[in-house]
Amino acid sequence: MKPKVITIDGPACSGKGTIARRLADRLEFAYLDTGMLYRIVAYADTDPGNFAVFSARDVLSIADSAPEGILRSDAVGRKASEIAVLPQVREIITKLQRDFIAHPGDGYAGSVLDGRDTGTAVAPDADCKIFVTADLEVRAKRRFDFLKETNPNLTFEEILQSLTLRDEQDQSRAIAPMICDDNYVILDTSLDSPEESVAKAFEIVRRKLDRPLENECSD
Ligand code: DC
Repeated sequence: MKPKVITIDGPACSGKGTIARRLADRLEFAYLDTGMLYRIVAYADTDPGNFAVFSARDVLSIADSAPEGILRSDAVGRKASEIAVLPQVREIITKLQRDFIAHPGDGYAGSVLDGRDTGTAVAPDADCKIFVTADLEVRAKRRFDFLKETNPNLTFEEILQSLTLRDEQDQSRAIAPMICDDNYVILDTSLDSPEESVAKAFEIVRRKLDRPLENECSD
């Protein structure tokens, strides 16, 4: 049977990563953080052609050996957004994602991807597409709270500016921009806890995939 695909797209700090990870756990689907693929290319700052030989899993294992804090940093995120406009980078990373979707791994009946264009450019035929969003200020506050311990000099305004710039870059690039079209179910997490957002996302998936799902395990 063709593996199922769930795509969770949206801007930075919208909560899409938490939602996608928790959905994948609950459904026993494979999970792919597609932003991490762009972050690794940005971090390696290498000829993107080198990545043609890697599978998505290989690229992600680089993530395991690289310092997590650096890969997740705002600076690498901004650089990832810059290199994400390059057609050769998008082509390679899109191919990695499609390979992953086609072969999610032994025991997985499907995959959950999170990113910006996974429901539009990567997997337009996905079984369920959710666009996760939240107010800019709410997203900036989440990011600020997360970073302030380790970066005491960082200001809320800097984070706000950085997110605004990243949103603009991701929405306006010529190839595979982040757009929320009619095929998405929109999930606004501004007022919800992570648990509430995950519960709402699970309900959306349940409706779309016409449950019961083969691999669902109870929490
Ligand atoms: O989700 P993230 O913050 O880790 O993503 C970092 C950057 O990578 C994001 O600003 C743009 C790029 N990206 C992309 O262009 N397409 C994706 N599917 C995922 C991320």
